[in-house]
Amino acid sequence: MDFNRWKNLSEIIPADVEFFVNTYNFRSEVLKDIEEFASKEKVPILLPSSAVFLKFLVKLIKPKSILEIGTGIGYSTITMAEACPEAEILTVDSNAKRLEVAERFFQRAGLKNVAVVHSDAFGVVGDFLAEGKKFDFIFIDSVKSEYPFFNFKVQALLEERGIAVFDNVLFRGYVCGKSYDEKRYSRTVNLLKLFLEQVKEYPNFEVTLLPVGDGFLILKKKAPKGGWKSYVDRNDVSLNS
Ligand SMILES: C[S@@+](CC[C@H](N)C(=O)[O-])C[C@H]1O[C@@H](n2cnc3c(N)ncnc32)[C@H](O)[C@@H]1O
Repeated sequence: MDFNRWKNLSEIIPADVEFFVNTYNFRSEVLKDIEEFASKEKVPILLPSSAVFLKFLVKLIKPKSILEIGTGIGYSTITMAEACPEAEILTVDSNAKRLEVAERFFQRAGLKNVAVVHSDAFGVVGDFLAEGKKFDFIFIDSVKSEYPFFNFKVQALLEERGIAVFDNVLFRGYVCGKSYDEKRYSRTVNLLKLFLEQVKEYPNFEVTLLPVGDGFLILKKKAPKGGWKSYVDRNDVSLNS
């Protein structure tokens, strides 16, 4: 099937609207070259319209530490690194061939703030959880059917007031009723639906679902009512009083 994504266009936004919107959206020469490469080689990258939003978000938030799950050929990594050169970015991918291409683009972009890990992200995330490591911003763009399994781990890795963004949560509109090849996609669609149900029930997170690109799900760890100070540490309470 010839998906719009191979033209770097969304399946859920009308193409004429996206073309128009993209004329307002600056992308560096390296990013434009990656778009061309992805289109020619049919490698999935973040949609340019989503990249522009991601760039805006990261510029606003100014995270000091970013974890990316799903480097691919580096389009989203470079987007974040350009937007926030002072951030330490750690990006993980299990596909060595894609990482090779990504590293070439990173060199071209002259990035100094990106560390690449070639590994399954579940292992990396597990290690970080064991070490108590935290991130200000986490971007997840890996296999969509794995989102419900990354979900709680990602929450635990977020700093207070940290933000996580999951890409492709509307999955070409399939999760909202658009017809699709059930044999091929029903597992992914069902697991994404499960993920979208899970996130509705998080008391400690503000959840925003935006129809950007292929659907951005944004989770923001919120402060408890009355602020973090309202939390009483068990050492503050005397059992004798
Ligand atoms: C859609 S591509 C990422 C595109 C990239 N964010 C960009 O904009 O260029 C998804 C990537 O996630 C990687 N991936 C999927 N599941 C993974 C996992 N469990 N651990 C590490 N990498 C994973 C794949 O190898 C693939 O390169």
